[in-house]
Amino acid sequence: MLSNRAMNITPSLTIGINTKVSQLKEQGIDIINLSVGEPDFTTPEKAKYTAVEAIIHNKTRYDKVTGLIELRQAISDKLQNENNISYTLDQIVVSSGAKHAITNALMAVVNPGEEVLIPKPYWVSYPETVKLVGGVPVFVDTDKNNNFKVTPSDLEKLVSKNTKLIILSNPSNPTGAIYSKDELEVLVNFCVERGIIILADEIYEKIHYDCPFTSVASLSDKIKNMTITVNGFSKSASMTGWRVGYTASNSKIAKAISSIQGHLVSHPSTISQYAALGALVKCDEDMDEMVSVFKSRRDLAISLVNEIDGVGYIEPDGAFYIFMDISSFKEKFKNSESLSMEFCNQLLEKEGVAVVPGMAFGTDDFIRLCYACSNEELTRGISKIKKFIESL
Ligand SMILES: Cc1ncc(COP(=O)(O)O)c(C=O)c1O
Repeated sequence: MLSNRAMNITPSLTIGINTKVSQLKEQGIDIINLSVGEPDFTTPEKAKYTAVEAIIHNKTRYDKVTGLIELRQAISDKLQNENNISYTLDQIVVSSGAKHAITNALMAVVNPGEEVLIPKPYWVSYPETVKLVGGVPVFVDTDKNNNFKVTPSDLEKLVSKNTKLIILSNPSNPTGAIYSKDELEVLVNFCVERGIIILADEIYEKIHYDCPFTSVASLSDKIKNMTITVNGFSKSASMTGWRVGYTASNSKIAKAISSIQGHLVSHPSTISQYAALGALVKCDEDMDEMVSVFKSRRDLAISLVNEIDGVGYIEPDGAFYIFMDISSFKEKFKNSESLSMEFCNQLLEKEGVAVVPGMAFGTDDFIRLCYACSNEELTRGISKIKKFIESL
């Protein structure tokens, strides 16, 4: 009954864990959820009120497929002022979340059978979305000692005449690592020289602490022409449920994305788009405040993880994750098919703490902990992880 396409897709493990956590909570079990990649803040007031005003003023009809003109203008201004990239309004397409922006982009440029380079560890949805559009995911091993940041020498052996695109997550989910300008320049020049399109997923762009952020498309006009920039409001403005993201690309790709989106969903909800507009033009301070809270939680989480014997981690300089190395416990789980899955299952069962197995990101020796939660939850959660590890 089902299409090959549907049967070929693996359900999202992170959404699966979250569903399990909700079920356990409904049964009255005390669970500390450090798995879900969602800020715990509410949407800033001024963004909400911009949406409320839009409802009251009946901004409730079909609008432009590519997104509200005011919103695209604000995005264009933001890209110019904050990222130093000039995109005209026709090069920006607003979509229903960054997830949808990525799907649109892949549909617009990847033919069935073409290869997409995905550095490991990767965000869970990349391989499945590539498969959905008929592309072939090609996983790229990266070096833990380089904080899992991909380099040209990691790519060299894997580039073929079928390579169409590379997906880069910067700052990275799941590792929290961030590329320096020099690292990025060497990497994307390697790709551009080989005609490989870069899908630059910059959704965590605002959430970084010690190292400055560089947007791929800002590096040169040649690179910009080969880059599809993806961004959104879920993480930076705590607007996960509103579902607003966007792509910025050359005009040819933007036109294709617009045609695809026009048939699929027309455009994202106008009310959500007004909320995003409010966030962009009125809520800079709120967003800066959230980042400073994330930084203090990152520092707290690191100080607590440092007290656990036998675990390492990737230096977390952005996003809101700690990617913890549990490889030293391999021996204890030697009879399990997957170290990280078994570790996470037992941690949930014995201590009631939910984290995501590295397996979900293609790297079984790790687990991902999200620190977008209260200091109290973070402290309790990490002390339970410590207790669990000491009991092994
Ligand atoms: C790296 C990355 N890209 C894209 C997304 C999707 O974000 P959105 O909620 O805007 O669809 C996420 C969400 O977890 C993410 O972590």
